[in-house]
Amino acid sequence: MTTDSLAGRSLIEPDDLSLKELDRILTLGAHIAADPGRYRDVCRGKILATLFFEPSTRTRLSFEAAMQRLGGTTLGFAEPDASSTAKGESLADTIHTVSCYADIIAMRNPKEGAALLASRHSEVPVINAGDGGHHHPTQTLTDLLTIRSVKHKTEGLTVGFCGDLKFGRTVHSLIKTLARYPGNRFVLISPPELELPEYLVSRVLKPAGIPFTTARRLEDTIASLDILYMTRVQKERFFNEEDYLRLKDSYILDKAKLNLAGSSLAVLHPLPRVNEIHPEVDSDPRALYFRQVQFGMYVRMALIALLTGAPLPEENE
Ligand code: CP
Repeated sequence: MTTDSLAGRSLIEPDDLSLKELDRILTLGAHIAADPGRYRDVCRGKILATLFFEPSTRTRLSFEAAMQRLGGTTLGFAEPDASSTAKGESLADTIHTVSCYADIIAMRNPKEGAALLASRHSEVPVINAGDGGHHHPTQTLTDLLTIRSVKHKTEGLTVGFCGDLKFGRTVHSLIKTLARYPGNRFVLISPPELELPEYLVSRVLKPAGIPFTTARRLEDTIASLDILYMTRVQKERFFNEEDYLRLKDSYILDKAKLNLAGSSLAVLHPLPRVNEIHPEVDSDPRALYFRQVQFGMYVRMALIALLTGAPLPEENE
């Protein structure tokens, strides 16, 4: 027996999932995190392709670790120059080809909309592992599972987003998703040049009546937060180096700033970090970003199992 209606579907942005489906993935992710060995054979015989047209450490390797821990195998490339893209092959043809070899594809591409295009040319589910400054739905699943692990809920939270809110696809995906749960409010902390795109304010926050404020200084707002979501100023999204150099160290979370926060604050960061969190913060119990990395693998195990329709141990009980 297969799992449910998620089988065979692609995941391009978090809105592709209903709140019930999100809960299904997060609940399975939590079960896997509690007892990963129980799931070691559920994808035996299945193949995951990881196609990365942009650099990655966590997303690509956690997808590969996830499939291997489910008993499946992986193939793919970590940079486009190692594929026939370098010879001029179109994305559509690459995806059509790989979907003849694999049961599921995880793809990262610098172009917004590339994942949607890929899903239209694939015979198998495509998971968006990041498309430019657009979306990163599996990072959102990672963030939600981490938040649930410490707050035991995803609603009624005051969440501060700090840093590059303009280009940060992890921020865009998480804001869109948290806006669907009741009672959440946002504090948007950024320099004027890196504010949240206007479309997210006018098409997501305002229609949903989400309370939000903007701030320039982390010190002024950190005490009011349940969650602080730090982000990197992304060099690769800037058109000129001068602007990047001017803005890159806008926010640095250190012990002095963390001392202004409440004891139950949860500090998240999708990583990689550059300077925005001082390593002296890492040993603070409120620093969750390396636990977040681990949750990322478990929630990707859940997602792969559900999208491939793998039989789960729960169903045989
Ligand atoms: N969080 C994240 O997407 O990290 P990578 O760029 O290392 O995959």
